[in-house]
Amino acid sequence: MAILVTGGAGYIGSHTCVELQNAGYEVIVLDNLSNSSEESLERVKAITGKEVKFYKGDILDRDILNKIFTEEKIDSCIHFAGLKAVGESVAKPWEYYNNNIAGTLVLVDVMRQYNCKNIIFSSSATIYGDPAQIPITEECPKGQCTNPYGWTKSMLEQVLMDIQKADPEWNVILLRYFNPIGAHKSGTMGENPNGIPNNLMPYVTQVAVGKLKELGVFGNDYDTPDGTGVRDYIHVVDLALGHVKALKKIEENAGLCIYNLGTGHGYSVLDIVKNFEEANGVKIPYVIKDRRPGDIATCYCDPSKAEREIGWKAQFGIREMCEDAWRWQKNNPNGYEK
Ligand code: NAD
Ligand code: UFG
Repeated sequence: MAILVTGGAGYIGSHTCVELQNAGYEVIVLDNLSNSSEESLERVKAITGKEVKFYKGDILDRDILNKIFTEEKIDSCIHFAGLKAVGESVAKPWEYYNNNIAGTLVLVDVMRQYNCKNIIFSSSATIYGDPAQIPITEECPKGQCTNPYGWTKSMLEQVLMDIQKADPEWNVILLRYFNPIGAHKSGTMGENPNGIPNNLMPYVTQVAVGKLKELGVFGNDYDTPDGTGVRDYIHVVDLALGHVKALKKIEENAGLCIYNLGTGHGYSVLDIVKNFEEANGVKIPYVIKDRRPGDIATCYCDPSKAEREIGWKAQFGIREMCEDAWRWQKNNPNGYEK
């Protein structure tokens, strides 16, 4: 069975390609490489020993989508392609709405023309806004997003739900990721941000490798045990495996399903620093800074629905997340750049 993986050269997409191939699926990647490198797919091949068929192109481009659906026999699409930098989305809302929303509308339109009506969509915990309850279950109401990126996820969930409602032949699985970190155990694949990282773990690993001087901790006056922000960090390989489980659910004609993918544990910024230092024997100097606008105090989920319905549960703990993130950074200080 062939699976179209949009954004498959990116961080989560490339790790998912490995697990899909390990599970016996044929993988076809469409990526415009706007935030990734084709080298990640070479690393996938080095791990699995299997070729990833790669189309360089854009989800906004109907011609390339038509070409893919004509040339390949696609059963389902895992749709990762999207822009994801929160701060950039505030400065460039049109680019975010166009790329993420218009891109998904084109993709879904071409899918239905070829009668491929199975999609797994990368959603995010960000759609809960400042969550009404902790731990967050899937029944928790969607909230006010604080940036255009978050709105693209929230709106696309609605778009896909409405499409499925109007045509029940669609199988739509919305996966709400919490905070993906870590890297493949081999140390050959991992997160490869452009420029100065926005997210915590890549910032920490770049401090550890000496590229950045110190971590800025964004606020220590939140209503949390140590005052710093608490998140549900999840190992990217666990997340990738969640997609394989979701595909099995699609094969059962599931209709519409929504799952939180997280571990259910909350760790503060200082917990991450401490665990990283202990796991890897490196020091992470940090300074306390002001709160980052738009951040919330605490965000972690109840992941039990995914366990009940698709048999998925995160296996890796915070220590492995820290070890694996560091192995990748240490072995590849410049990411995928040769
Ligand atoms: P990433 O940037 O590493 O991967 C996204 C990939 O999509 C990149 O390879 C990029 O080149 C590609 N892409 C972007 N626009 C495209 C377009 N128009 N056509 C074709 N390819 C395009 O990001 P990631 O961390 O792997 O995230 C994957 C998905 O998961 C995204 O949709 C993201 O919003 C979502 N998500 C990520 C996180 C996170 O913290 N990493 C959390 C929640 C949700
Ligand atoms: N943080 C710092 N210093 C940094 C970076 C982050 O203290 O240099 C703190 C933040 O304030 C927050 C925590 O570390 O308390 C995690 O921040 P991230 O930027 O790593 O992650 P967020 O929870 O803000 O957001 C991430 C993704 C979003 C996604 C969300 C929920 O960036 O795209 O998880 O899935 F929507």
